[in-house]
Amino acid sequence: MDVVLIEWAQGMQIMRLGFIGTGAIAAAIIEGLCAVDRDHAITLSPRNADVAADLAARFSNVRVAATNQAVLDASDVVFLAVRPQIADGVLRALRFRPDHHAISLIAAVSLDYLKEVTAPASTVTRAVPIPTVAQRQGPTAFFPPHPTVKALFEPLGTAIELDNESEFHAFTAGTAMMASYFQFAEAISSWMVANGVAHEKAQPYVGQMLVGLGGNLGAAAGREFAALAAEYQTRGGLNEQVLNFLSAQGVFSNVSLALDAIKERLIRAQA
Ligand SMILES: NC(=O)c1ccc[n+]([C@@H]2O[C@H](COP(=O)([O-])OP(=O)(O)OC[C@H]3O[C@@H](n4cnc5c(N)ncnc54)[C@H](OP(=O)(O)O)[C@@H]3O)[C@@H](O)[C@H]2O)c1
Repeated sequence: MDVVLIEWAQGMQIMRLGFIGTGAIAAAIIEGLCAVDRDHAITLSPRNADVAADLAARFSNVRVAATNQAVLDASDVVFLAVRPQIADGVLRALRFRPDHHAISLIAAVSLDYLKEVTAPASTVTRAVPIPTVAQRQGPTAFFPPHPTVKALFEPLGTAIELDNESEFHAFTAGTAMMASYFQFAEAISSWMVANGVAHEKAQPYVGQMLVGLGGNLGAAAGREFAALAAEYQTRGGLNEQVLNFLSAQGVFSNVSLALDAIKERLIRAQA
């Protein structure tokens, strides 16, 4: 077993978790974890100081270490959550133990590379959470499968075990659509504003529409996306007209092209 079990409470495995890099995604994971229970002992690296201090002030099981190495020394499972550009320098400065389990969130580094820089850590996992883990609504794909990672992320939305790194690239590319999703909402809202609707009315309207439609999309709903697209258009109707127009403009085929480019970038970055 790759984690030190320090306590059992109500069947829940209590772990010593560490974070190297206390930024947006680390904060979202900690928020989600602490909403589930506050039994894990969580140690944060000192940067970003404001984010770390805020988390430590809000959650009694979270503390800030003086150095990155002190995070490792106080943890059994270590999340690697720094930006790719600085990852190599940060990781090579750390001394891992054989019993460490490193969970890398860094988008663009391979499992082989991670095993090398975290040696002699016995277990290494790549995971790709999204910020909605904070609200426990985040699907987190990870590779290779591991029960500890499953147990940590399943309560934060859904934990999805992947079979190979190629599949991991596809899931990582999928997460690159998040900003475009919001820009899509913005395009509808700002068009309404340009057509005389108050911003204060357009924003909540579009937001509610997308949330309502999104209720059809979850795993529990079990609906095919293509079937929903067909269901939400009437022959000769307004939705059909927009869908046909956007399709003819190449909007949807361009989504595929954009994701192809992301996948290529991910593969190139870790070559
Ligand atoms: N955001 C997402 O949705 C998401 C999702 C999945 C994976 N990821 C991956 O997660 C990683 C972090 O992303 P992020 O969005 O959380 O970025 P971020 O908000 O910029 O967080 C990175 C953190 O690393 C800190 N840092 C900088 N130098 C450091 C050092 N030498 N030692 C320790 N920490 C240091 C930064 O502190 P300062 O602010 O003081 O520089 C910052 O708090 C990236 O590799 C990204 O690919 C992100």
